[in-house]
Amino acid sequence: MEVFDMREFDGHELVLFGHDVPTGLRAIIAIHSTTLGPAAGGCRMWPYPTTTDAVADVLRLSRGMSYKNAMAGLPFGGGKAVIIGDARTGKSGELLAAFGRMVDALRGRYVTAEDVGTTTADMSHVARVTRYVSGLGRSPGEAGGDPAPKTALGVFLGIQAAVRFHSGSADLAGRTVAVQGAGGVGYHLCALLAGAGARLKVADVLPSAVERVCDEFRATPVAAVKVLEEEADVLAPCALGAILNARSIARLRVAVVAGAANNQLARDADGEALRAAGILYAPDYVINAGGIISVAREYYGGTEAQVLEDIRGIPARLTEVFERARRESRATNEIADRMARERLKREPERLVA
Ligand code: NAI
Repeated sequence: MEVFDMREFDGHELVLFGHDVPTGLRAIIAIHSTTLGPAAGGCRMWPYPTTTDAVADVLRLSRGMSYKNAMAGLPFGGGKAVIIGDARTGKSGELLAAFGRMVDALRGRYVTAEDVGTTTADMSHVARVTRYVSGLGRSPGEAGGDPAPKTALGVFLGIQAAVRFHSGSADLAGRTVAVQGAGGVGYHLCALLAGAGARLKVADVLPSAVERVCDEFRATPVAAVKVLEEEADVLAPCALGAILNARSIARLRVAVVAGAANNQLARDADGEALRAAGILYAPDYVINAGGIISVAREYYGGTEAQVLEDIRGIPARLTEVFERARRESRATNEIADRMARERLKREPERLVA
C-alpha cells in the first residue's frame, strides 16, 4: 500500500494505526490539517474488507472534514477515525475505551465523535479515558447531543436557499422533494419539509422507515431503486455516498440536488456533469455542516441557541458558492473546494476526472 501516493493522502499531517491485543481493536486515526484548530471528525466503525479500503476511507473522510470545518467557519481542522469491525457484533465498552486511549495519546490534536456505526452511548465509553471527545449527552439548553436533527435543519435551510437561487423564491409550499433515506437525518428533514408545505416522495431500503414518514408527514412511498429517477423539484440524498455518477445524472428529473449524504459525487467531474445538465448541486459538505457545528459548540462549551444561530449561516455560504459558480461558469463543487482550500491556505487542487 503506497499511502503517501494515494490520491486521498493530499498532504495529511498524521496517520496513526492502533492495535489493542486484549480487545482486538484495529483502528486508524487520520489528521488532514490542524491549520484552523484541532482536527475534528467522527469515528466510523465498518467491516472494511481490506486495510487498504480502511485507509482510503479514513483519508478521504478526514480531508472532507477539513473542507467541511473550514467552510463552516469552525475553529477545527479536519480528521477522522475508523475502527475496523462490525458495529453490530464487534463493539464493547473496553474496545471503545482502547480507542479512546489512542485518541488521548494525541493530546488534543484530534477530537472524536460518533459517526456511522458508533453512537452517543459509545462516545461515553470513549469519554471514560479522554476528554478529546464530543457528541455526548447534554443538559437542556447546552449544545450537543444527537447531531442528526441539527444536520437536518441545516439541509432544510440549504434547500430553501438552493430553491431561491434557482427559481427566485424560497417558498417550498407545493414543491416536491424526493428524499433518499429516511434515517436519522432524513426523518427530521421530512418533518421540516412537510411543515413548510412541501410534497414528499420518500424511499428507504427499510420499509418501517418509509412507513413512519408516510404516516406522520403524508409522504408518498417510492421504491429505493427508483428514487433517483423521480420527477421532483429537489432531490435530497440522505443515505449513501457516490450516488451521483454518469449513469444516475443522465436519469435525474430534478432542478436541484441538495441533501445530507457525504461524498454524493462519485467523481469530482460529476459536479460538472450536473452543471451541464442544468441541475443546481449544493455541495454536500457545505449543506450538511449542522452536525459538526453542534459538535463544535459542545466541545467548546456553547449553548443550543448558539448552535441554531451558527446553522443559520449555512444558506448564506451556499448562496456564495452558487453565485461564484455562476459568475465563473464553474461547477459548484469545484468552487466550494477552492473556497475551502483558500481558507486552509492550501494550493488549489487540479481536478482529476
Ligand atoms: P442513518 O443510517 O440514520 O440513515 C440512513 C438511511 O438510509 C437508513 O434509514 C437506511 O436504511 C437508508 N438507506 C440505506 N441505503 C439506502 C438506499 N440504497 N436507498 C434508500 N435508502 C437507503 O444515517 P444518517 O445519520 O441519517 O445520515 C445520512 C447521511 O448523511 C449519511 O451519508 C451520513 O454520512 C450523512 N451525514 C450525517 C450526519 C449526521 O449528523 N447524522 C452529518 C453529516 C452527514
